[in-house]
Amino acid sequence: MRLHINIDHVATLRNARGTPYPDPVQAAQICLESGADGITAHLREDRRHIKDGDVAALRELLVGKLLNLEMAATDEMVEIALRIKPNVVSLVPERREERTTEGGLDVAAGGDALRGKVQKLVAAGIKVSMFIAADPAQIDASKAIGATQVELHTGDYAHAFGDISGDDDSVRNELIRLAAGAAYASRAGVDVAAGHGLTQDNVGPLMEIPQIEELNIGHAVIADAVFMSLAGAVRAMRARIDEGLSNRRLSS
Ligand code: PXP
Repeated sequence: MRLHINIDHVATLRNARGTPYPDPVQAAQICLESGADGITAHLREDRRHIKDGDVAALRELLVGKLLNLEMAATDEMVEIALRIKPNVVSLVPERREERTTEGGLDVAAGGDALRGKVQKLVAAGIKVSMFIAADPAQIDASKAIGATQVELHTGDYAHAFGDISGDDDSVRNELIRLAAGAAYASRAGVDVAAGHGLTQDNVGPLMEIPQIEELNIGHAVIADAVFMSLAGAVRAMRARIDEGLSNRRLSS
């Protein structure tokens, strides 16, 4: 199982204050040192988290490592991808007002325009993955336009899992839907990834689906990092303050 960590929300935190820290590239380095197989970053059209410079810096850092660039299927983004040459491009739907990627890409409705973009990326040696609902029509359409991977949207599964009023049946039904989509995609000969809304709590049951070979996980990992390292950050700050105080005593 390939684990790709999406470091977008390190950039969200940085951009909230306009500081140079926390640096998503440094985060990528730590993810790779800690068991991630690759790094995912979403360059949105509104640049709300990852910026162009981050993508270029990530490409420089990730020599011999996998960079998955998530992007909308626009001319601007295709031009950037052809220049930066990520290993994988994940095509996602994008709406400016959304909080995060909502729903999968409607590949079936994408027509020749989408096919042309996919084929340009494929011709440049970039693997193309389509972020779609676990729907046979979308899987067939993805394969037909030249994508060699689909990433199944796990958002509804995550919602069912996290919904305290939801019952076990809704979780099971979502798992069955994802399993059927993964099996269909695998039979069609495309690689199967999954992602969106995955957490430490809900990732386990997904492992029942044998065709899924890659996960893209972001928000929950960055959120967990706050609590798994907050104590260390406070201790480090306390130590710097104490060090400064002892220097003051020495010099007075
Ligand atoms: N996969 C895709 C295609 C996405 O667009 C996103 C969100 O950027 C993710 C995975 C990661 O989702 P999350 O941040 O909820 O883990």
